[in-house]
Amino acid sequence: MKLPLTILLATAGAVALSAAVPREQAPVNANAETYIQVAQDAAALRSEGQPLYAKECGGCHGANGQGGDGPKLAGNDFVKAAGAVISQILVGMTEHGMPPFADVLNDRQIAAITTYVTATWGQVTAATTPDMVRTMRGGAAGGM
Ligand code: HEC
Repeated sequence: MKLPLTILLATAGAVALSAAVPREQAPVNANAETYIQVAQDAAALRSEGQPLYAKECGGCHGANGQGGDGPKLAGNDFVKAAGAVISQILVGMTEHGMPPFADVLNDRQIAAITTYVTATWGQVTAATTPDMVRTMRGGAAGGM
């Protein structure tokens, strides 16, 4: 699942860019490679996030984000803001029944879950990177 999607995206990106860019402009190729790398990583993070979400979050928020013990995430404006989702995962909301995951999940796992959740239910196209989680960990929940 992960590999074919990645290849598909890379191929689509390469085709779109080679069609749009005249061949003589060699320096643009570096941008094309960066673009493809970013698209590949976004796709990889999103597909890594799906099973992690199912395992860590789906029990309370529903496999399809429909809600349960926790609020629904599908159609919830909260999941349009990656920073808010990262913070919620790190710190939780213990008094309302959501545990903190700062000591349970690493930066990449939280980035993957956030990418999956914001892309699936928040129509967010940009991936959440492990660097973003690392930065917020420093401010929101101390080091790991
Ligand atoms: C044990 C149940 C439980 C688990 C597991 C859990 N949550 Fe929650 N979650 C809650 C509850 C309850 C709330 C509501 C907290 C509140 O009232 O502020 C919540 C709130 C949220 C919110 C804010 C929604 C809103 O409208 O305020 C987000 C986003 C969220 N959770 C994402 C996640 C993600 C992602 C995971 C997995 C890493 C996760 N949750 C795991 C119970 C859970």
